[in-house]
Amino acid sequence: MAKITKRSWAEPYRMKMVELLKVTTRPQRLKALKEAGFNTFLLPAEDVYIDLLTDSGTNAMSDQQWSAFMTGDEAYAGSKSYYRMEKTIQDYYGYKYIIPTHQGRGAEHLLSKIMIKKGDYVPGNMYFTTTRLHQELAGAKFVDVIIDEAHDPNNPFPFKGNVDINKLDALVKKVGASKIPYICVATNVNMAGGQPISLANLKELRKYTKKHGIKIIHDMTRVAENAYFIQQREKGYQNTKIKDIVKEICSLTDGATMSAKKDALVNIGGFLAINDWDIYEEARNLVVAYEGLHTYGGIAGRDMEAIAVGIVESLSDAHQKARVGQVEYLGAKMQEYGIPIVTPIGGHGIFVDAKAFLPHLTQDQFPAQTLAAEVYLDSGVRTMERGIVSAGRKPNGDNYYPNLELVRFTLPRRVYTQAHMDVVAESVAMVYENRTKIKGLKMIYEPKYLRFFQARFEQLK
Ligand code: F0G
Repeated sequence: MAKITKRSWAEPYRMKMVELLKVTTRPQRLKALKEAGFNTFLLPAEDVYIDLLTDSGTNAMSDQQWSAFMTGDEAYAGSKSYYRMEKTIQDYYGYKYIIPTHQGRGAEHLLSKIMIKKGDYVPGNMYFTTTRLHQELAGAKFVDVIIDEAHDPNNPFPFKGNVDINKLDALVKKVGASKIPYICVATNVNMAGGQPISLANLKELRKYTKKHGIKIIHDMTRVAENAYFIQQREKGYQNTKIKDIVKEICSLTDGATMSAKKDALVNIGGFLAINDWDIYEEARNLVVAYEGLHTYGGIAGRDMEAIAVGIVESLSDAHQKARVGQVEYLGAKMQEYGIPIVTPIGGHGIFVDAKAFLPHLTQDQFPAQTLAAEVYLDSGVRTMERGIVSAGRKPNGDNYYPNLELVRFTLPRRVYTQAHMDVVAESVAMVYENRTKIKGLKMIYEPKYLRFFQARFEQLK
């Protein structure tokens, strides 16, 4: 008779509606893959069985969110849904002035246009694709100031999202603080594998930036997941609620860009939040040109209602425990099969180390792009490249060669079950068993910006 050695957790919700999935055959998937130029972004979603492309806008909304949807006020100006969302953001995140945008990059666009002058430098704890592009389009140079540990897929450091203050200080000494309008600090750094920044590091950064008159802009897209890791790992926070940790994080920064499509559990929407009146005023002027009036910013009243409810749900301890728990379950399964993954396991997905998985391919043969294609071919599981293709080219045209060459298995929130996770892990294990036979790819079409979205590839012979 088995003895109880642990007590399992389960999702703090149950299903009320389901969406049926199509199961395809391998020949069907090969055809779809060829038509998509071996780029998982170009696959029709209908041909995907388990879709782990992204956690962005793919969340399942709760019954409470759907009912709030029905109360959406679609007034062009002064919608009551705007005021509800604004108050929720002020209450739970603590920022003063709020501009809704159609999604995160809408906020990045406004912020970059307002704060950056040509020739400026914007440091950040690793880049994110759209964030860096907006900074560059506004005339700035991005400078990576994340700690070195973040670039090593196997380094066990618990806060791989931390800023290396010495790197920042070297930049300040080289170019002068007046050329640095702000530092962009992401919580739960996406490109590093969903890795958190500690509150200790953020406090130190606040002290440093105050001294030098540099603002901190918070990419708060996955702030609640970061807060969960602080609760689990940072000394002194074990008994602090996630919602209080989130408030403390935000209080150490001057403003934020948010893609509500992630943490806030909705399918579309975002916002710019800022404590400085002058920046707010300029954003309120510009948003009208690029997104919509400052009380809807490109989203519907119903979306703002769903965001208001989603923010509150996302800050529940039980939600985050199940959310990150599912990611950890998938990661542990992959580790049982010996799959090389980024550790510690991050908050929004498992990042498979494609360099270690396919050591016989050079980075110019796109190991992560190749692996994403092979996993789809094996099982219809869709993932995303986060390596040399995503990193793109520098403003001078040279390729970036990122140290991390990863395939991201991103988990939408509240969507898939533990059985789906088993199917995913077994598929990766199957591809791993046959890895030596896998050939790389050649890029045959490269778009000018954010090439990973639309680039096309051919299999090498
Ligand atoms: N910042 C981070 C850290 C992100 O992960 C994203 C989007 C954005 C900003 C931009 O937000 O998509 O609403 O415009 N990440 C998605 C992903 C696309 O799949 O990781 P958006």
